[in-house]
Amino acid sequence: MIHRCVCPGSFDPVTMGHLDVVGRARTLFDEVIVAVLTNPAKQSMFTLPERLEMLQESLGERPGVRVVSVPGGLLVDFCRQVGAGAVVKGLRGGTDFAYELPMALMNRHLSGLETVFLPGEPRFEHVSSSLIKEVALHGGDVSGLVPEGVLARLLERVVPVRHTGSGQPEETA
Ligand code: PNS
Repeated sequence: MIHRCVCPGSFDPVTMGHLDVVGRARTLFDEVIVAVLTNPAKQSMFTLPERLEMLQESLGERPGVRVVSVPGGLLVDFCRQVGAGAVVKGLRGGTDFAYELPMALMNRHLSGLETVFLPGEPRFEHVSSSLIKEVALHGGDVSGLVPEGVLARLLERVVPVRHTGSGQPEETA
C-alpha cells in the first residue's frame, strides 16, 4: 500500500487549480508532500523561498499536507528520500497529458515511481501559472483564480504594461 505521495511543481505562483489537486490527492493518500522545485525550462517570477511561502500561506495547517522546497536533483531521488511511492499531477486536458506523460514514463523508467493523474476541477481548466502571470502583467483581473496572498504579491510584483495607440506597449511606472 502506498500511503505517501508527492505533488511536485514549480508553483510560480500557486493557483486555485493547484490547491484543488492537492486537496484531491489528500483524499487518496494519508500524506501529501507538496514539493516546490525549479524548472530550468521556465523563467520564474518568484524565488524558491517566495513560492514556498505562498504555498504554505495558501494551504495553512492541513493535517497530512506539508510543503517542502527541493533545491535541486531528480524528483525520483527526492521521492525515495521522503519515502513517497507515487507522484500526483493534475490534468486540465490533452495538452497537460502530452506534457506530463513523458515525465511520468521517465520517472517510472528511472526508479519504478508511478504517477497518478487526477482530472482537475473544470472551473479551473483555463488556470495556469503562466497565464495568471501574463494576464496580471497586462492589468487583467485574476482574483478568484489564485489565493488572496498570491494576488497581493502579484500586484506588487508586476509593472503593468499600458498599450498606446501606436500599437507599441509602453511600461507604466
Ligand atoms: O510545474 P512544472 O514546472 O510543470 O513542474 C515540473 C517539475 C518541476 C515537476 C519537473 O521539471 C521535475 O520533476 N523537475 C525535477 C528534476 C527532474 O527530476 N527532472 C526529470 C523529470 S522526468
